[in-house]
Amino acid sequence: MADKGNAVATREAPTPSTGTAVVPSDAVENPGFEPFRPRVSDLDPVKERQNERRVSWMFFASIVGSVFAVAAYIAFPIVPGDLGSVRVNNLLLGLGITLGLFGVGFGAVHWSKSLMEGHDLVESRHPTRGSEETRDKAVEVFSLGNKESGFTRRKLIRNTLIGALVVTPLPAVVLFRDLAPAGDPVARLKHTLWEEGKRLTRDPDGTPIKVSDVTLGSVFHVIPEGLNDVEDPLEEKAKAAVLLMRLKESDLHISPERKDWSYQGIVAYSKICTHVGCPVALYEQQTHHLLCPCHQSQFDITREAAVIFGPAKRPLPQLPITVDAEGYLVARSDFTEPVGPSFWERKL
Ligand code: FES
Repeated sequence: MADKGNAVATREAPTPSTGTAVVPSDAVENPGFEPFRPRVSDLDPVKERQNERRVSWMFFASIVGSVFAVAAYIAFPIVPGDLGSVRVNNLLLGLGITLGLFGVGFGAVHWSKSLMEGHDLVESRHPTRGSEETRDKAVEVFSLGNKESGFTRRKLIRNTLIGALVVTPLPAVVLFRDLAPAGDPVARLKHTLWEEGKRLTRDPDGTPIKVSDVTLGSVFHVIPEGLNDVEDPLEEKAKAAVLLMRLKESDLHISPERKDWSYQGIVAYSKICTHVGCPVALYEQQTHHLLCPCHQSQFDITREAAVIFGPAKRPLPQLPITVDAEGYLVARSDFTEPVGPSFWERKL
């Protein structure tokens, strides 16, 4: 094939209206394309109109799907805590968006396949290899630079320069260490401020909570006593935040190893979602479900905060609690498992 820069080889469909092929003036020799076979819509104006209507119907279906998705989103809203409303909303929204996208996609493909004119193009390019003259000139410039700098001749300078270039990035590697907390980051993440005898206090004022304060059905946002006196209270709070709830004792399904972890139906669970760590703060009093607003994970407080819906992979860790001599709620120990995302299941 002749090298003509942006020259074009064509295999054009005849235009239905004229029945003639369009051949650009700078067309090059056919590089081996099959001869063009006209489609039925190229030859028959009735078929052409049929295809036109089909494509329009697909685009129309797309419009209907998109409008349906918006209408369904408004007409069937998600009601917090109502699993059925989430399903209906997601189903109708998904159906509408699917129809909207498929309508546009299929319509566009059908349009291009059946109605748009078809031709193959070859765009020949100049060779990427430079001319001999250019290459010789490049070698000459490189050799001159080498000679003037003495890079090959002054071996000591060359070798120390190579050494310096290799070692220079090392401080940056060391600086990455600063991205982790001081000390052993794994150990710090595994433990919280909770310990035996530490009082449960209200978030944010830090007043201790008596058993008699926690009425049936109530919920408290809780932090450990003395949180504001530690060096980094926000970081500690991010690990130690707890939700305290009181249920009927008969509603709690407690495993034998946790029978001492609650007090007269009062239970405490980590507020940090085990999915990716959002605060789980929506308590549904009737169903005793805790909802994480980020990705809708739900935990059943009557069953040791087991996951009943959503992407979380493990229950919320429970804080073992009891009561002290003055009637205040206190922790029995720290959490017995790491709080937060299930990242921990990787067994660091
Ligand atoms: S962070 Fe709670 S569900 Fe994702």
